[in-house]
Amino acid sequence: MEIDTIIKDIQFERHMNLLLINGPNLNLVGKREPSIYGSQTLEDIQEDLLDLARELDVKLKFFQSNSEGEMIDYIQESADSTDGILINAGAYTHTSIALRDALLGVAVPYIEVHLSNIYAREDFRHKSFLSDRALGLVCGFGPISYQLALQGIVSYLKRV
Ligand code: DQA
Repeated sequence: MEIDTIIKDIQFERHMNLLLINGPNLNLVGKREPSIYGSQTLEDIQEDLLDLARELDVKLKFFQSNSEGEMIDYIQESADSTDGILINAGAYTHTSIALRDALLGVAVPYIEVHLSNIYAREDFRHKSFLSDRALGLVCGFGPISYQLALQGIVSYLKRV
C-alpha cells in the first residue's frame, strides 16, 4: 500500500466531522415562502440529515445564525476539528466577501447548498461569492439538496 493511502486510512479511522451551516432566514424554512422553500422545517431537514449521517458513519453538527459575524466566528472556531462544511449562506451568498474570506481562510473544503435553484430566480441571486472556490454546488432540489451535498462531501473526502 502506498504511504499516502495508509495515512488517509489512518485519518478516517476516526469519524469524519462535518458541519452544516445555515445562514439568515433559514430558521424560517417551513413557514417562509413555502412555494419556493417547501413546507419542511429546518429541524425536519436536520433530523433527516442525521439519519443519513448515521448511515454514512460520519459526525454532523448544525449551526444556524442570522448574523454574518456569528457565522464567521463559528467557521473560525470550528475549523480545526472539521473535515468538511456544507453551507447554505442564504442571502449572504450573494453579498458576503467576508464569509468567502472566512471559508478560504480556514481552508476547510465546503459545498454550497441552496434549497431553490438560484439561477432560475432573480438576477441578483445569480451571483455567488462562494461557488467558484467550493468543492461543488447543489441547488434546486429542496431539502434533498442537503442530502446530495452530504453524500457528495463524504464520497469526496473518502477518496482524496
Ligand atoms: C437560498 C437562496 C438565497 O438566494 C436566499 O436568499 C435564501 C435561501 C436557498 O436555500 O434557496 O435565503 O439560499
